[in-house]
Amino acid sequence: MINVRSKITSILAVWCFLMIFPKTGFPVNEASLDARVDKLLEQMTLEEKASLTSGRDAWSTQPIARLDLPYIWVADGPHGLRRAPSTDTWGYGDQAPATCFPTASALAASWDVELLYRTGQALGEEAQALGVNVLLGPGVNIKRSPLGGRNFEYFSEDPFLAGELAAAYIQGVQSQGVGTSLKHFAANNQETERMVMNSRVDDRTLNEIYLTPFEIAVRKAQPWTVMACYNRVQGTYGSQSFELLTGKLKQEWGFEGIVVSDWDAVIDRVEGIKAGMHLEMPGKPGHLTNQEIVDAVRNGELEQDRLDQLVREILKIVLRANDSAKSDADQKLEEHHKLARRIASEAIVLLKNDSGLLPLGKDKYRSIAVIGEFAVNPRYQGNGSSEVKPPRVDTFLDILETEYGEGKNIQYARGYRLDDDADLSLIPEATRAAQEADVALVLAGLPQQYESEGIDRLHIDLPPSHNRLISELAAVQKDLVVVLTNGSAVAMPWKQDVPAIVEAWLGGQAGAGAAVDVIFGSVNPSGKLAETFPARLQDTPAYLNFPGEQGESIYGERFYVGYRWFEARDIAPLFPFGHGLSYTTFDYESMRVSSQQIMDTEELVVTATIANTGEVSGKEVVQLYVSDPVSSLQRPLKELKGFTKVSLAPGERKDVRFTLNDRAFSFFDPGRSRWVAESGDFEIAIGASSADIRLTETIRLQSKQQLNYECDEFTFFRVLWEDDQTRPLLIELMPDWIGGHAAEGAPPEDAQIQDFLLDQPLLKFPYFTGGEVTRPQIDALIEKCNTMTYSP
Ligand code: BGC
Repeated sequence: MINVRSKITSILAVWCFLMIFPKTGFPVNEASLDARVDKLLEQMTLEEKASLTSGRDAWSTQPIARLDLPYIWVADGPHGLRRAPSTDTWGYGDQAPATCFPTASALAASWDVELLYRTGQALGEEAQALGVNVLLGPGVNIKRSPLGGRNFEYFSEDPFLAGELAAAYIQGVQSQGVGTSLKHFAANNQETERMVMNSRVDDRTLNEIYLTPFEIAVRKAQPWTVMACYNRVQGTYGSQSFELLTGKLKQEWGFEGIVVSDWDAVIDRVEGIKAGMHLEMPGKPGHLTNQEIVDAVRNGELEQDRLDQLVREILKIVLRANDSAKSDADQKLEEHHKLARRIASEAIVLLKNDSGLLPLGKDKYRSIAVIGEFAVNPRYQGNGSSEVKPPRVDTFLDILETEYGEGKNIQYARGYRLDDDADLSLIPEATRAAQEADVALVLAGLPQQYESEGIDRLHIDLPPSHNRLISELAAVQKDLVVVLTNGSAVAMPWKQDVPAIVEAWLGGQAGAGAAVDVIFGSVNPSGKLAETFPARLQDTPAYLNFPGEQGESIYGERFYVGYRWFEARDIAPLFPFGHGLSYTTFDYESMRVSSQQIMDTEELVVTATIANTGEVSGKEVVQLYVSDPVSSLQRPLKELKGFTKVSLAPGERKDVRFTLNDRAFSFFDPGRSRWVAESGDFEIAIGASSADIRLTETIRLQSKQQLNYECDEFTFFRVLWEDDQTRPLLIELMPDWIGGHAAEGAPPEDAQIQDFLLDQPLLKFPYFTGGEVTRPQIDALIEKCNTMTYSP
């Protein structure tokens, strides 16, 4: 009886949870929300409606006192809050203290969706405490080139990874009744001329690489807002693209929120509204152009209904935000500092660890040289609109001395100056310190001026003083650990000369502690690269096209971005996508698939057994890639379609599961403008990195999709001749000519047509057959063909 009752209670609890916690993540009574919106809309004048489509000031929407309509407060984002003292001030330097978490490139290296959710949750809590209703993040733009100045603010070069992580982050923030702004939509992959640059990207690449992370995040997490980019995409400004803002976002992916412009991105207000751009930010220029919207409705250029539709959606978000605001929220700065350290430690990637130099262990070395100004003057976040003002910042030297320094002789040498990257005068003192110590830790990386919003990098090198310092230290100290601080990939000309390299990213206010924890083994590193580290800039996919010229950035590398490029070109990177070491070892014991043969309408469940075969507990990021060896269109050698992070005690083994649907096997067919899954064999590969595949299985996919033949006068004869469905059509419509190519007595199906003719488009047939095949016959063939369907 008790069991039945508790079962009913739990079913009821789940039901209630689903009813009151919609996808948007917070309890809001949708029916009453709709009714309130309807009522407001009825009462609003045209001028008031127009005024609602632009902000009030730097960070808030337009309130309407007459109708008791409040404003909402939006603030950057993404890895902490940059909340200005008031909505009409900019908040650079005078922003409210808030926890600075690791930036997106670090978060992504954790490959941990639960951790991203937890990060989002903490950000939501801080937003509530600071009165912020919408946090302007996360950024899911793809790292097309390591030169991208804002790569530190983005997750990955891989669309699946970026999308999944973004969805978890959004769910976390929104679970607190705070909205997010998924940015910058779309193909915003560089800073150079970002206000106008035209991203010339073909449809297939746009969909497979650049839109997919947005699609995943929208479908899974319904961010309250999406931020339209500055740049043009295929010739149209992101803030004016009907195809993107309405076609993709609303119609295809079912986006329920509103589109906010990037700050000052709007060019033409009326075009924006027509395209589906709800809110121009910030307020200032909008005040001047609200009248344009009023005029456009009055003179019939803009339909009243279109404006109403957008205003309705804005009202919904404003009311939802207001209903969800908490007046007594605690910012939990102490708790979040600890959390920030844990998150940073999950993100650290142990790139190299020859002869098990790391972890140092508490008692392994008595004297330690700590070298590099970063040890006392850390760089922990990127430059630009995302800059958080943390209440405190840990330093490497301090944490080392206070938490791990007992009984140790720790010597610090500055090694280089962050304000002068060519000054080599501090190197001799540093090499002396390294030589005298049992082990040397050198902190190197990118100073602030090397990576910033608004400017792309010109190279991927560390400052000359850092490179020289590392090389000279390596010459005098064999036990040398390089600890890197950077938001994006860097070259490491000294890689072969040093035994250990720790990638600590821009680790946020508590990142220094995380790095020390990993170095001493209190935390077993488990991060893996979410971006390929190239050996040379010249090896990278967009090398010849980045950042473009004459206002055009041509995405000539197409979908061969990141590891897709390095694998297709067989170029060895410095460190591959997905790479990261641990202090333990993992055995990928076996894998199973739910079926060797599936329909595209079915899911495939893939299970792998992973064991910890080492001496310490650890976490492993298990990656699943799919390859389509035979396809009608070119495809990357393999693509990430699943990942999970599993925690294992020594000797423990666990099963990890991945569920794949048709999308995991599909490509975007630009001719048909749809995703296509073709029948055939696919290889499922499970590994520890893109370059370290441990288990594979082949499955056969049977596609039930029905595609129309898309035949026209440019269709090649061979395509129709080699297809079992269309071959009879050819024979039916041009019997004499085809019959003439068959041996005497043989049926026309066996006609031997020379390659020269097979490889001609239909329109050439009246010429090559001397009129035997006529244009009307060709037209009839095309017409008939286009009424037929086939399974790819
Ligand atoms: C950035 C956005 C940011 C906005 C507000 C823009 O320049 O591109 O990412 O959210 O400013 O600061």
